[in-house]
Amino acid sequence: MKTKKIAVLFSSNGSNLEAIIKKLHNKRFNGTKIKISLLICNNKNAFGIVRARKYGLETTIISHEDFTCRQEFDKVLVEKIKSANVDLVVLAGFMRILTPVFCDNVRAINLHPSILPLFKGANAIKESFQSDMQIGGVSVHWVSSELDSGKIIAQRSFKRKNRDFKAWEKKIHAIEHKILPKTIIKLLCK
Ligand code: GRF
Repeated sequence: MKTKKIAVLFSSNGSNLEAIIKKLHNKRFNGTKIKISLLICNNKNAFGIVRARKYGLETTIISHEDFTCRQEFDKVLVEKIKSANVDLVVLAGFMRILTPVFCDNVRAINLHPSILPLFKGANAIKESFQSDMQIGGVSVHWVSSELDSGKIIAQRSFKRKNRDFKAWEKKIHAIEHKILPKTIIKLLCK
């Protein structure tokens, strides 16, 4: 049986990480097993670390604060990822701007809580809610050296209805927890 290995990078809450663990880790799709073989977090206090431990998965902490520039941080990320020999890197709430040191050397996808190319950046949920758009959504895209701008792989939208901000955010997260695992399966288990 074929096994495809993934690395997941995250920064804080880790609900998407947990969705990936629950839905994909050590599970088989079309005869291919997906295995999370590396978890990296840049924040030692992230709740995602606790979530992963519940499933017997340990997280490697690489704190961006230990580096003087983004390139040096990225270099260590790339070394760690290369040594794990994974098939795909998944950024699931990894809140760091990555340089070409990372983007040119790693095959990675990113989850973003808006309909790209609208609302790039760290405040996408709030900005999309505050806009007058009648739909919101989620995108998964390839990572490129321009922030939130790589080729889009998957997107889902939803109608605004009369959602308040909390309900808007909840809807986005519910979609994220489905679209990211689905996209990983699509990419690795054809
Ligand atoms: C998600 O909304 C993701 O799109 C964004 O950061 C959030 C991470 O949430 N990039 P969680 O840590 O997976 O709960």
